[in-house]
Amino acid sequence: MSIRALGYVGIAAKTPQDWSEFATSFLGMQQIDAGGGTLALRMDDRRQRLIVEQADYDGTRFFGWETADAAGLAAVAVRVETSGVAVKREPQALADQRHVRELISFTDPAGNRVEVFHGAAIAADAFRPGRAISGFRTGPLGLGHAVLFVRKPDEVKTFYRDVLGFGLSEYMIEPFRATFFHVNGRHHSFAIVDSDRDGMHHLMVEMCALDDVGHAYDIALGIKDRVGVTLGRHANDYMLSFYSRSPSGFLVECGWGGREIDPANWTPYELGVGPSIWGHDREWLPPPARAAARQMLLDNAAQGLRHPVQVVDGNYTVMPGRVPG
Ligand SMILES: [Fe+2]
Repeated sequence: MSIRALGYVGIAAKTPQDWSEFATSFLGMQQIDAGGGTLALRMDDRRQRLIVEQADYDGTRFFGWETADAAGLAAVAVRVETSGVAVKREPQALADQRHVRELISFTDPAGNRVEVFHGAAIAADAFRPGRAISGFRTGPLGLGHAVLFVRKPDEVKTFYRDVLGFGLSEYMIEPFRATFFHVNGRHHSFAIVDSDRDGMHHLMVEMCALDDVGHAYDIALGIKDRVGVTLGRHANDYMLSFYSRSPSGFLVECGWGGREIDPANWTPYELGVGPSIWGHDREWLPPPARAAARQMLLDNAAQGLRHPVQVVDGNYTVMPGRVPG
């Protein structure tokens, strides 16, 4: 698999400055002045992870997928061109703007601008979070995951799986249709939700400590309409999270405890228990689907559906004793 992580995301905003408070005081990212009304945001040692550009619409501008090196990038370019999609080798000026060594661009079947790059620059100074969080879980797992609404799910699936080489994690039919893909150990870096429109559904960022998410939830509860999906835990990637409404219309999922998979030994399956083990009341769903989702949660409760929490060194303590069964 040549593409190995979601490296950066370009966001469109009518008022980029609206992202300033949202991304720093709430999410805990570090704002960098990129000049020209553009707002760049750091999440780790990279120069930038999110780029918010002035636009006459709210949404996304581009998705930056990372390859290991120039050979990986060239391999992706060949595969995309062979599929009949035009590929542009972007000039050095754009690579400099993105803080990467080299990039190409093309358009996916849903009309999204996709960039593939290698050689992301590391900042000279350490990441300084916009509020007191432990940090974001990125590294080889990439910046998080992107979930898109798409009108032509079959075409989009074929493109990302067969042309770009994304691995299928699983799919869901009820209470809404969705398909999840991985490009590294993160359970999904990309997913699509069948819809009557194309657009961004949500961007997920994962924090290193559970309490970072709890503090974010407290902050969000104090801001009118900021919480878009209540606290809950996902049944596929085991992420404990809630979703916030971003200034660009789509949701930003703030999560902790995402599961890692072994892509070499993974068998896709149908997620039959709904998207969440518990919680995650989705205001964005039409009433019948929202009611179906709620019934699935009650069924999960009746069956006692549960999964172990997923921890990393430094964010847990093992106590004596054992969970029965
Ligand atoms: Fe998500």
